[in-house]
Amino acid sequence: MKALVPAGGTGTRLRPLSYSLPKALIPVANKPVLQHILESIRDLGVTEIGVVAGHGDRDIAEAVGDGSRYGVELTWIRQDRPRGLAHCVRIARSYLGDSDFVMYLGDNMLPDGVGDIAAEFAATRPAAQLVVSRVPDPRAFGVAEVDGDGRVVRLAEKPARPRSDLALTGVYFFTPAIHRAVWSITPSARGELEITDAVQLLVDQGHDVRAVRYQGYWKDTGRAEDVLECNRHVLASLRPRITGDVGEECEVNGPAVIEEGAKVTRSRIVGPVVIGANAVVEDSHVGPNVCIAAGCTLRDVRLSDSLTLDGAVLSGVNDLHGSIIGRHATVVAPGRSTARHRLVVGDHTHIEVA
Ligand code: TTP
Repeated sequence: MKALVPAGGTGTRLRPLSYSLPKALIPVANKPVLQHILESIRDLGVTEIGVVAGHGDRDIAEAVGDGSRYGVELTWIRQDRPRGLAHCVRIARSYLGDSDFVMYLGDNMLPDGVGDIAAEFAATRPAAQLVVSRVPDPRAFGVAEVDGDGRVVRLAEKPARPRSDLALTGVYFFTPAIHRAVWSITPSARGELEITDAVQLLVDQGHDVRAVRYQGYWKDTGRAEDVLECNRHVLASLRPRITGDVGEECEVNGPAVIEEGAKVTRSRIVGPVVIGANAVVEDSHVGPNVCIAAGCTLRDVRLSDSLTLDGAVLSGVNDLHGSIIGRHATVVAPGRSTARHRLVVGDHTHIEVA
C-alpha cells in the first residue's frame, strides 16, 4: 500500500498565518501537522508517500526533506492550484500505479491512529473505505449514509438536514477502482473535482464502499481555534523532558518539555508546556497548554493556551491567551500591559499593545 497526502490548498481559514506558512507546517505540540501525519502513516506500515503540494511546496520540502528522518520515502507531486481532492488523485496516477492507497489529508489529525481500520481494509479490500467519526452537528461536514452492514449508500456534502451523524474525516482507503471514477467526474459548483463525487460514483456503480467508525480524537486543523484545541489534546499526553537550562529561581509544575539550548529564568512554567531549542524565557508565567517554538524570546509575559512560532518575540504582554504568534513576529507592550489579549498574528508582523 502507498499513501497520498494532499498538502496544497489555500488555507483561507487560517489566514493570515497561511499567507506565508503552508497550512501543513502549522505546529501542533511544536511539530508540523505534516510531520504528525507522516508518522501516523508510517505507523500503519506504509512508507511510500506521495505529497501533493502547490503554494509553499518549497517550504514544505525544506521542512520534511525526503522523509528519511521519519522512516518514509517521499515523492513530491506538484499541483498548479487547488483543483480539488479528486484532482490530487488524478495527478498522482502514475505515482500510485495499481497500488491500493490511503489518502490522508494534510491538515487532519487523528492522533489515536487508524491501524485497526487499515487492517480491516487490507483484509476485505472494498473499492473505498471511508474513515468516519460521529459528530454532534454534521451540517458542516461531508456526511456518509450507511446501511446496517456498514455499506455507504449515499454521501452528502454539508447537508442542511443530515440523515446520519457520521462525518467524513480526512482519511480514505482506496483500491485502484477510484482512478476511473476521478476521471469520470466534472468540477462541482465551487469549481473543484470533489472526492465525494468520485466516491458517490463508485456507490452508484454498485462498488463496495464502506464507512468505518474511528472512535478516537479527530481534528481538521483548518482554523486557528482548531489548531489550539488540537494542541491542547496532544499536549495532554506530553512526556516531560528537560534538557534546557532552567534557573533555580524558576518553578516548573506539570509536564514540561524544555529543549536543548533553551534558557528559562525567574519564571513559572505550568505544564503542559513545550519550550523549543534556544528559546529564552525571562520573568514570565507560561502555561498551561503553551508551545514556544525554537528561538523565541519571552520577557515579562503571561501566556496561556497559545503557540508562538519560530523566532517570535513577546515582551511586557501580561495576559495573552488563545493566541498564535507567527514566525519572527513581535508583540510588545511598551508600558507593560495586563489587559487580556487574544491575537492571531502573521509572520514578521510587529504589534504594540496598549
Ligand atoms: P481544504 O481544507 O478543503 O482546503 P484548504 O487547505 O484550501 O483550506 P481552506 O478551506 O481554509 O481554504 O483541504 C484539505 C487538505 O487538502 C489540505 O491539507 C489542503 C489539501 N488540498 C490539496 O492539496 N489540493 C486541493 O486541491 C485541495 C482542495 C486541498
